[in-house]
Amino acid sequence: MAKQVWKGSAIFGPMSPALVSCAGDKEKNVLTIAWTGIINSHPPMTYISVRPERHSYHIIDETHEFVINFPTSAQCNMTDFCGVRSGSKLDKAEKCGFHYAPSSVVSAPQIEECPLSLECRVTERKDLGSHSMFIAEIVAVQIDERYIDSREKLHLQQAGLLSYVHGEYFALGRKCGEFGSSVMKKSTAAKRSAAKTKK
Ligand SMILES: Cc1cc2nc3c(=O)[nH]c(=O)nc-3n(C[C@H](O)[C@H](O)[C@H](O)COP(=O)(O)O)c2cc1C
Repeated sequence: MAKQVWKGSAIFGPMSPALVSCAGDKEKNVLTIAWTGIINSHPPMTYISVRPERHSYHIIDETHEFVINFPTSAQCNMTDFCGVRSGSKLDKAEKCGFHYAPSSVVSAPQIEECPLSLECRVTERKDLGSHSMFIAEIVAVQIDERYIDSREKLHLQQAGLLSYVHGEYFALGRKCGEFGSSVMKKSTAAKRSAAKTKK
């Protein structure tokens, strides 16, 4: 493989674009965020990196709360729209047909139409340059119950979550493995696949 060396830049692998909702005293807003991820499991922690010029920035900075909502591939256009228009000028949720619903722990609302929402409370802000990183604890998770089976197992892959790679949106593709499959005994893999076929 012949590789070119480029100067350091913000190129990255597939990401989950998120609709981040927040609420101030007088308004609710939503913006699209690609710079996000999990940074700790106990306690569960995440981050979002936001440019200070975003309308949402001051709401999040003042309230210390936000909700990360994951859109489906069917919500691709709305996700893009919330990332190219500012809430300072219009109600983006209304324009996209999204509804704000109360969260269970934080005051920031969740977006009802998204199958997975993470309620977050900011613990720290790091000003990094172009963006400020809000580090936050995930204090509650809301999941569309259609993806939870009778044994409380979550089948998030069925939700059709949207993916984002280098400026382009994609629907998730074919499954090609699972955690630990590289070292899984053939008999275990066969049992699992038989159990899935039965369903
Ligand atoms: C796919 C996508 C990802 C984005 N990711 C980020 C991000 O991680 N951080 C950020 O500050 N802006 C990001 N943006 C831009 C903001 O969403 C955009 O400036 C938005 O209009 C800000 O909304 P607001 O002014 O209502 O807060 C992204 C836009 C798109 C389309």
